[in-house]
Amino acid sequence: MKTVRVDFGQTKFANKKTNQKDRVVLDTTKTINGHILIAGASGTGKTHQLRRVIDAMSKQPPHPRFHIIDVHGDLDIPGASSCKFSESSPYGVNPLKVDPDPHSGGVRKRARSFIASLNRTTSKLGTKQESALYHLLTDLYEANGFYLDKPESWDVKTDLRRNPRHPKKQPTLGDLKTFAEWRLAQMTTGAGSKALSKLDELNRKVRQLHRKSDKGDDSEQKQVEKLRAEAADLYREYVMAVETGRELPQYLTYAGRDVMQSVFERISNLESSGIFRPRKPDFDLNAPVRRYDISALSRDEQILFIDFLASEMFQAARRKGQAAHPRDFIVIDESHAFVSAEPDHILNVIIRESRKFGIGLILASQSLSDFPDDIIANTSTKVILGLDEMFHASTARKLAIDPKRFGWVYPRRTALIQIKRAGDTSNRYLDVELC
Ligand SMILES: Nc1ncnc2c1ncn2[C@@H]1O[C@H](COP(=O)(O)OP(=O)(O)OP(=O)(O)O)[C@@H](O)[C@H]1O
Ligand SMILES: [Mg+2]
Repeated sequence: MKTVRVDFGQTKFANKKTNQKDRVVLDTTKTINGHILIAGASGTGKTHQLRRVIDAMSKQPPHPRFHIIDVHGDLDIPGASSCKFSESSPYGVNPLKVDPDPHSGGVRKRARSFIASLNRTTSKLGTKQESALYHLLTDLYEANGFYLDKPESWDVKTDLRRNPRHPKKQPTLGDLKTFAEWRLAQMTTGAGSKALSKLDELNRKVRQLHRKSDKGDDSEQKQVEKLRAEAADLYREYVMAVETGRELPQYLTYAGRDVMQSVFERISNLESSGIFRPRKPDFDLNAPVRRYDISALSRDEQILFIDFLASEMFQAARRKGQAAHPRDFIVIDESHAFVSAEPDHILNVIIRESRKFGIGLILASQSLSDFPDDIIANTSTKVILGLDEMFHASTARKLAIDPKRFGWVYPRRTALIQIKRAGDTSNRYLDVELC
């Protein structure tokens, strides 16, 4: 079988045995995994090297497919099929799609990772909001026939609902918004909410009197009796209005109207960004390179988009089954903004687990100092194109090399390159004269 090769250049120093400089060639069928890290300060040639890697690999058998997530809009590759994502484009990525895998997928995992992704953006959810959103999501899934504790229901093709009015489908962010709106309306207008707020008023009044040394004057006692009677009437009304048997738990799990209102606003804002539509982009299926141009999105939207898209690709790769070599590469420039130290973050999961499912991750970044150890340790090919001095010490510690070696790199001319092949246990970084 022909192998995929990328020629980076030649070693700066001659091989002692042959007295000649060696070519430094990446062959992803020989490396431990297909993951590649490219690090360099602005202008040192990260985008240039990304283009070379993609160009070389996409033209050679077995012709892996590249999914470029273009955050700056400058990674246009000749022959690539491009889609621009924005408020006004018709397609997006569905963040609520449940992975049907009985071991690694399911409703709970999808709901938790959706919340974790929201919490990686600049506005983190409060504890009560998190809990309300979690219950809202699991209730939405249940209403759509995806049950927390029934793994067989996680497949869209298996419908366990009793009398479904519509064919089963994966819920979308639009559905979540409608569902949240409906729940909010129930909480605002339902008899239960009136009874609870009257009870709250009564409790406050009684507490107030309780704190006083005397038991209050007649008019205060009368007020309490009046509140007691009103609350009793409203409770009677509420009890008579019980229909589904879930009215009180619903009110309690959603932690009250204000919390629900704030969760609804968060969902509405997300939905209005327009990038979480369920329609898939219409890429040319024959193009080896697909470019997701997300340069029009805000940084927070980019974070969410990458999390959800990478999850979807990982699920798809698992469904396809095991592969000896990467079939698909996900390419992310400026990736330091999108990685996370959380072990369950999708990029860490992909780095650790996706080799056998044929996914390679190609990440470019201005520095590696805040990169998760999982990513550094599990990436077989690292290309260092010249770092800003402020990152020398921290990156040297991460890569376990002498910081002085960064000082010998001449941007756009030389680089430090590590390529770990199967059976290679050394931590060797070669000084390379770039092509
Ligand atoms: N090895 C090289 N040989 C020739 N030209 C190069 C090389 N590396 C980079 N260049 C050129 O240098 C310029 C800057 O490179 P590039 O845009 O790839 O840098 P970058 O690291 O991606 O910068 P930024 O972080 O600002 O995006 C480009 O015009 C590119 O063509
Ligand atoms: Mg660049």
